[in-house]
Amino acid sequence: MINYKEKIADLIAPQVEGLEREEILGMIELPADSSMGDYAFPCFKLAKILRKAPPMIAKGIAEAIADDPMFEKVEQVNAYVNMFISKADFAGQVVTEVVTKDQNFGKSDMGQNRPVIVEYSSPNIAKPFHIGHIRSTVIGASIAKIYDYLGFDVIRINHLGDYGTQFGKMIVAYRHWGNEQDVIDSPIKTLLSYYTKFHVEAENDPSLEDEARATFTKLENGEKEETELWQWFRDESLKEFSRVYDMLGISYDSYAGESFYSDKMPRFVKELEEKGLMEEDEGAHIVRLDDYGLTPALITKSDGSTLYITRDIAAAVYRKETYDFYKNIYVVASQQNLHFQQWIQILELMGYEWARDCVHVPFGLVSLEDGTMSTREGRVVFLEDVLNGAVDKTREIIKEKNPDATPEAVEEVAKAVGIGAVVFNELSNYRIKDYVFSWDHVLNFEGETGPYVQYTHARACSVLRKAGDDIVAKAKAGFDPSYLTSESAHALSTLLYQLPDVIVEAGEKYEPSIVTRHIVDIAQAFNKFYHDEHILVDNEDEKLAKIAMVLAAKAAIRNGLDILCMKAPEKM
Ligand code: ARG
Repeated sequence: MINYKEKIADLIAPQVEGLEREEILGMIELPADSSMGDYAFPCFKLAKILRKAPPMIAKGIAEAIADDPMFEKVEQVNAYVNMFISKADFAGQVVTEVVTKDQNFGKSDMGQNRPVIVEYSSPNIAKPFHIGHIRSTVIGASIAKIYDYLGFDVIRINHLGDYGTQFGKMIVAYRHWGNEQDVIDSPIKTLLSYYTKFHVEAENDPSLEDEARATFTKLENGEKEETELWQWFRDESLKEFSRVYDMLGISYDSYAGESFYSDKMPRFVKELEEKGLMEEDEGAHIVRLDDYGLTPALITKSDGSTLYITRDIAAAVYRKETYDFYKNIYVVASQQNLHFQQWIQILELMGYEWARDCVHVPFGLVSLEDGTMSTREGRVVFLEDVLNGAVDKTREIIKEKNPDATPEAVEEVAKAVGIGAVVFNELSNYRIKDYVFSWDHVLNFEGETGPYVQYTHARACSVLRKAGDDIVAKAKAGFDPSYLTSESAHALSTLLYQLPDVIVEAGEKYEPSIVTRHIVDIAQAFNKFYHDEHILVDNEDEKLAKIAMVLAAKAAIRNGLDILCMKAPEKM
């Protein structure tokens, strides 16, 4: 995108001897008050070099550069050169760039294909995939998209919670009370009921706990029958998760979850030992982290079995060795802050100099109106139900509005808009904020919502259809930007101009909501432009310029929705 500061520095540099272009670039200011121009150049510093009064210098520079077409006017006010950018020149530069880049608008090569891992979703198998998981899933998917746009080579990982002593319990429960058909029919509900039953029964019969421990040891040792049962539980759970991922249009490069690291851990236990970082504590092994203000981390239990944190240490090293990542990003709830601080600190103590390239991106808690979610007490809202509910509601609205639409068209739009509404809602707030899940809120399509933005995109598409292919092709080939200087056109050009920087900022802050908000702003500015101006006017030159603007707005909104992992239907 055109960089005005650079262009201004190029113009001023020949006017001031004794000052490097780079220095001039650093001196250009953005006035807080727009009556002072879009850019200003202060001349105080030059007085010494040029042996002239600053206002005199400013006057000389202003006169020398005023004729450049990029300016509407250039003024000298005291020691300042105040520059007003030509709205026509600006709109011409911006709209041409967006229309030319089209699908690539907003992308950059900043990342230079360096590998970035984004780990997200990572649910626990045989446990409900509930509304709490939507956060990691959707925020992570969007961060991955942002890094795609920034030119990194993104590796998407689902670190499934598919290992641990609970699988000993599940296998024991299945053997005592289980039924194959029930698991096939409704895997997660059934497996969860086994897990719950196990805890109830174990209250009266503590020998069940011993049986579960022994069974988990067999699983750790890779014994056939236990491994097969575990594998089956995992496959059935994954089928359920995949239904939701398909609805969301999310995919992964790797499902290497906790179990994947089960045989990779002894190396690290040994390494911690050799580096003198581990100590024994009643048969268990811990790493003390008092010096860093953290509680001790438990590496192995007294029965020798490894823990969640040990698997994370193994996973990080494996990822470095396998992908040589530039960054390894974990989108995981803020409840796990301590866990991440601990293991990243441990990696650093072990001497892995890339430890701080592992970044925990936390997010706040989702609770329900009647309190926090509780799987045991049945207080849980399934993510799949939320997505289906949103699609159902959208289907009704669309049928009402378009009674003639074919069932296939209704279904396609209902999915895009219903699921999009949930995703957009999720990506609208700062990730770290806690929130209370409410059906009313998710299914409310009024105001600055996903459906509003998608509708704006469809409206732009409809204007282009009305204009016809011929006019659209001509507008793409060139237009007279002097028709794009109204207040509403200028506001829209300004927002389009900012989008690439907004994406960079969102990436640096791991904060998709920055993009969400900007896309809402673009949609609003487009709607204002659409209402304030006649687009399909008789004067062809004027029409071409305005159609180019519509093309640009459409491309920006579509790419923005793409970053939020949402579809952009052309008709609604
Ligand atoms: N499975 C875990 C949970 O549901 C989240 C895993 C987070 N990722 C990690 N590398 N520890 O709480």
